[in-house]
Amino acid sequence: MKILGISGSLRRDSYNTSLLRAAGELLPTGVELETWEGLKGVPPYDQDDDTADAPAAVAQLRSAVAGADAVLIATPEYNASIPGHLKNALDWVSRPVATNPLRNKPAAVIGASTGAFGAVWAQAELRKVLATIGARVLETEVAARHVAEHFDENGRLLDEGLCAELAEVVDELAAAVRAPAEAQAAVAFAA
Ligand SMILES: Cc1cc2nc3c(=O)[nH]c(=O)nc-3n(C[C@H](O)[C@H](O)[C@H](O)COP(=O)(O)O)c2cc1C
Repeated sequence: MKILGISGSLRRDSYNTSLLRAAGELLPTGVELETWEGLKGVPPYDQDDDTADAPAAVAQLRSAVAGADAVLIATPEYNASIPGHLKNALDWVSRPVATNPLRNKPAAVIGASTGAFGAVWAQAELRKVLATIGARVLETEVAARHVAEHFDENGRLLDEGLCAELAEVVDELAAAVRAPAEAQAAVAFAA
């Protein structure tokens, strides 16, 4: 089973990229995390350019999402919302509406910030955007607050509580891939 990991930060020493890397070390057996590194190369969305011959970076992103069983996004929070370049990339992935590669795909969101709230607003907005695109979005959230305190100088996550939360989210993502969407809907209805 393959999870595609996307860090919403372009920064070289990004805490969100480190958080994603830490999640990749906590995967259940039989699950791999492949990270997608092409975010900086995605051009601004322009419907005139959204043709069968899409820009190369966009085609590569769509293909990476299509080839994965699930998607895990680590998002920073910029001014209480999703970083623009990440939202932009998802706008490209969202088309065509009926057949976009996120449709019915399990997706989860985690986030880190240097402040006291752990990017919870950006995460909430990102879950909303992913659900609008058609992904099956987990409610589970990992909010890494005051994140600079939780990594060592090599970018390794020191906080055991955060490690446990990351392990839980990747477990849930793997379970969502295994559970057919209809079974999940039935459980939600019964509850
Ligand atoms: C343009 C900008 C806006 C920011 N806005 C917020 C914010 O609204 N909430 C917050 O908690 N942190 C905010 N921050 C601080 C980020 O949490 C911090 O820079 C974090 O390290 C970014 O994630 P990264 O390390 O993965 O790049 C902002 C940072 C930048 C550069």
